[in-house]
Amino acid sequence: MNRREFIASAAVAGAGLLVLPSGVRGGAKAPSNKLNIALIGVWGRGLAHYGSLAEENVVALCDVNEKRFAEALAKFPGAKTYVDWRKCLDQKGLDAVVCCTADHTHAFVSNWALNRNLHVYQEKPLAISVEEARIVRANWMKRKTKLATQVGMQRHAIPNFNRVRELVRDGAVGDLTAAYAWGDRQIRRPGYLPAQGQPPADFHYDLWLGPSPEHPYNPGYFSGGPGANCLQWNMYWDFGAGQIGDMGSHTMDLLWNAVDAALPTTAEAKGEPFNPDVTPVTCESHFDHPANDWRGPIRVSWYQGGAMPASPKPYIDLKKIGHGAMFKGPKGHLICDFDSRILLPFGSDADLTYYKPRAKDAVLPTIDHFQKQWFDACKNPSLKTACDFEYSGNMIEQLLLGLVAYRVGKKLEYDGAAGKVTNCPEANELLSRKYRAGWTLDG
Ligand SMILES: NC(=O)c1ccc[n+]([C@@H]2O[C@H](COP(=O)([O-])OP(=O)(O)OC[C@H]3O[C@@H](n4cnc5c(N)ncnc54)[C@H](O)[C@@H]3O)[C@@H](O)[C@H]2O)c1
Repeated sequence: MNRREFIASAAVAGAGLLVLPSGVRGGAKAPSNKLNIALIGVWGRGLAHYGSLAEENVVALCDVNEKRFAEALAKFPGAKTYVDWRKCLDQKGLDAVVCCTADHTHAFVSNWALNRNLHVYQEKPLAISVEEARIVRANWMKRKTKLATQVGMQRHAIPNFNRVRELVRDGAVGDLTAAYAWGDRQIRRPGYLPAQGQPPADFHYDLWLGPSPEHPYNPGYFSGGPGANCLQWNMYWDFGAGQIGDMGSHTMDLLWNAVDAALPTTAEAKGEPFNPDVTPVTCESHFDHPANDWRGPIRVSWYQGGAMPASPKPYIDLKKIGHGAMFKGPKGHLICDFDSRILLPFGSDADLTYYKPRAKDAVLPTIDHFQKQWFDACKNPSLKTACDFEYSGNMIEQLLLGLVAYRVGKKLEYDGAAGKVTNCPEANELLSRKYRAGWTLDG
C-alpha cells in the first residue's frame, strides 16, 4: 500500500468502517494520516489558510516574494521553500497543494498538480480563459475517483446557500425560468501601470508574470494589504478576469448552487467600451441553459459594476444588496444575499399552497468547514467536495464566455461539448490566451 492509499484507508477507518487493533488510533487526527501539503502563495489569501493547514503537514512553501517566508516558516517550521511553483510541485512525498497565487497562474498550478496526482485546493477563480477552465476540468474528471479538488469559494458553506437551493428546488417561485446574480464592486484602472523602479532583489517579478505577457514592473501591483492585494492586479486582462474572478466567483456560486446548470448554449453581453488593458467595470452577460431533470430551460444573467437586473417591485431597491442573486418563476421572486433571503410571491394564485416546506430531516446538511471538507475528501476521495473542478469549472467557463461575448459584441451560439462558438470565428480566437515562451499549461 503506498502512502496515499494508506491515508485513504485510514480515513475510512476514521469513519468507523474498519476495526483497528487496540492501541492504533485511526481517523484524520492520527499523525500518520496527515496530508503532506505544499502551500503556493504563502502570504495574503495564503494566511487565511494557516489555521486549518496547521492540522496537516505543510512540507513545502512557495512564494515569488522571499520576504514572505519568515512568517510562513514560523508557522510551518521544517518546510522546504521555493520561489518557482514548478520546482515545488516536484518535491517528493507531496499529497496535496493549496494554491493562493495570482489568478493568471491558477490553471497552470492546478493542471500541473493534477498531472502529478496531487489533490488541489485552488483559490478562485479556477481559470481566466475558457480554454483553461476546460483543460483543468477535463484533467480532474479523468482522476476524480482518486483526487479531491475544491475552488476557494468558501462562502458556499454559509447555510443560506442551501436554504436558497431548497426554496428554488422545491418550487417556492414555481417552475424556475430565470436567475440573476450581481456584484457592485467598482475598481477603475486606466491601463497597465507604467515602468517604475526595479523589483527588490528578493522579489522574483519574472516568475510572478509567469505565463502572462511581459509588462514592466511597478510596485503599485503589490501595494495592497494582506488578502486584498489581488485588487491591485485582478482587473487587468493579463493578470485576472476582473470582477468575475473576484467577487463574481462568490456571488455566481450563490446562484449556481441552486440551478444545477452545466454549460450554456448561448452567451451575449454588453458593457462599457472595450479597454485592451483592463476588464470592464460595468457589464452584463446573459446565458441560455437547457432544461435538466427537474426544471425547464432557464436564462442565467450576471451583472456587474452598476448594471443591475430590474427589481420586481418598486419598493425593493436591489442596489442596496451589493452582491446578490434573484430567482424568478411564475409564482414570484426569491431575492438573496450571502446570508439572508426574501420570498416575494405574486399573482392572484400565489398563495403558497403549491409549496411544501421540507421536513426537518430532508433539509440539506451544513458544511462544517469548507477547507476541511477538502482535507476529508483528500483522505477519502469517495467524499464529495462542494466546489470541485467540475462544478466550479462549468461556472467559471460560463462567466468567461460572457467576457468573450462582451468583446465581440454578438450573441454567441456555444457548443459546450466541443468548446466552440459555432456562429462567430473571431470569438473562438478569444477562448484561449497566448502564453510567454517557455510556459505550458500541460507540464
Ligand atoms: N476566497 C476568498 O475569499 C479570497 C479572498 C482574497 C483573495 N482570494 C484569491 O487569492 C488569490 C491571492 O490573492 P491575494 O490578495 O492574496 O494576492 P497577493 O498578490 O497578495 O498574492 C498572495 C501571495 O502569493 C504570492 N504569489 C503570487 N504569484 C505567485 C506565483 N506565481 N508563485 C508563487 N507565489 C506567488 C504573492 O507573492 C503573495 O505572497 C487570488 O487569486 C484571489 O482571487 C480569495
